[in-house]
Amino acid sequence: MKIENLETLFTKEQIRNRIKEIAQELNNIYKGEEVVAVCVLKGAVMFATELVKYLDIPLKMEFIRLSSYGSATTTSGKVNAVDISLPDLNGKNVLIIEDIVDTGLTAKFLIDFMNNNFNLKSLKFCSLLDKKVTRKVDVEPDFYGFEIDDKFVVGFGLDYDGYFRNLSYIAYKP
Ligand code: IMP
Ligand code: MG
Repeated sequence: MKIENLETLFTKEQIRNRIKEIAQELNNIYKGEEVVAVCVLKGAVMFATELVKYLDIPLKMEFIRLSSYGSATTTSGKVNAVDISLPDLNGKNVLIIEDIVDTGLTAKFLIDFMNNNFNLKSLKFCSLLDKKVTRKVDVEPDFYGFEIDDKFVVGFGLDYDGYFRNLSYIAYKP
């Protein structure tokens, strides 16, 4: 995958505007509440840091690291918890922040993990992208930025073999 061959899917302005809209929705939903935002590394790093800047609620950030991709563009079908150390989240409003929901295996794993380990006040799942057509398990993000079809995308945190996370926009190889 070469940067010259990439086509932009969402510009940085489109991404920023959409993130502001999601933030507004979250500000309304969580009004008067405290939230623990759990960023799923590495892919969600840009989305999470951008999103929380527009949240005007008491908030803490936690970071966990998972991996599911076997080769560069195909999911292994198995979620690996690389580092999932979290503080006591009992009684907390947890907002999981992900880059993309594809098969849904990662989202399902995380939701089950949270519910099995903590007695949360609430749990919501927010993903920048949603590839609904490739879903294998029945899970839907509570909030998402954009729905995309079955394309492998990079940029704004999303990688191909570790590269392209630094792009300020989201692109794909046509
Ligand atoms: P899922 O478990 O199949 O839903 O996949 C979730 C993870 O796969 C995401 O957190 C991404 O890291 C990765 N992923 C899925 N689709 C893409 C893509 O199009 N580009 C880059 N990474 C992707
Ligand atoms: Mg990835």
